[in-house]
Amino acid sequence: MGAIAPAFLLSLVLSVGLGWQLAQAIEPAVAGTVDPLQPEQQIGQQLYLENCGTCHLAVPPAVLPTQTWYQLINDTRHYSTNLTPLPRFDAQLIVRYLQFYSRPYYEGEALPFRVSSSRFFTALHPQVEFEQSPSLNSCVACHPQVANFNFRQIVEPG
Ligand code: HEC
Ligand code: HEC
Repeated sequence: MGAIAPAFLLSLVLSVGLGWQLAQAIEPAVAGTVDPLQPEQQIGQQLYLENCGTCHLAVPPAVLPTQTWYQLINDTRHYSTNLTPLPRFDAQLIVRYLQFYSRPYYEGEALPFRVSSSRFFTALHPQVEFEQSPSLNSCVACHPQVANFNFRQIVEPG
């Protein structure tokens, strides 16, 4: 009897511990963007940040429609510059990530290529009155953590 109790206790402690670890593993990482990051999207996000967050801040997927992202990822002509083509597998993972965290525009709707003309961007800013047309350089005025891809933390611009 005296030998069983500690063994039982030990296995109880182990299983509680294991359950907690599992819960930790399943719990999606806290994200600074609109939706929590699913574990299976982590690599896609990492590749996205590495490839699309160097010249300018990484634009959060939710602010542009899925179709816009497709075109941006598949075109090396990029606004005023040219991009080096992405390795095909990386591009696939990035597209999957962007698709997961964005929504499509209706068929026939004109696609926005600037956040300032995206109705999803507008919808995410219901209370905000922009003094100047929002651009990638102005996000940081209200979102001080953009460098960490966090758009949740907000300050009054000043
Ligand atoms: C003038 C301040 C201001 C500027 C500039 C601004 N935002 Fe915001 N943003 C906010 C506020 C405030 C919210 C919270 C929603 C609300 O209250 O309307 C928000 C919310 C968001 C969200 C949703 C965050 C979440 O998970 O709920 C995203 C994404 C976002 N902004 C992206 C951007 C990007 C990208 C830019 C630059 C192109 C930008 N914002 C510029 C003030 C601003
Ligand atoms: C070599 C530098 C460079 C890289 C890498 C780059 N971009 Fe850009 N991006 C630019 C420039 C330059 C602009 C235009 C800036 C302007 O005119 O305001 C731009 C603009 C944008 C805009 C428009 C934002 C707005 O509302 O004005 C989006 C969206 C964008 N890039 C997405 C991406 C994506 C997705 C990737 C990864 C495939 C990427 N960028 C990689 C240089 C780059």
